[in-house]
Amino acid sequence: MSTSETDPPTGEVVVTAYPDGPLLVRGPATILDQDGRPVPRSRATVALCRCGGTAIAPWCDATHKVNGFRTDA
Ligand code: FES
Repeated sequence: MSTSETDPPTGEVVVTAYPDGPLLVRGPATILDQDGRPVPRSRATVALCRCGGTAIAPWCDATHKVNGFRTDA
């Protein structure tokens, strides 16, 4: 796994809201579905959809770029 200035310290979870886009989750957060079951993740950083348009919920599939989702509205 690579590290960079944007990686949180080991064990810390950082959630960043991207303008007009997803929530980026960096660090060892457990993502649960609506029934409380863990959603498997294979990356250290994942993007959670907040536009409601994704076809691969809860993950962002970049649909926000074409569905007009805006966070400043
Ligand atoms: S935020 Fe990216 S698909 Fe919804």
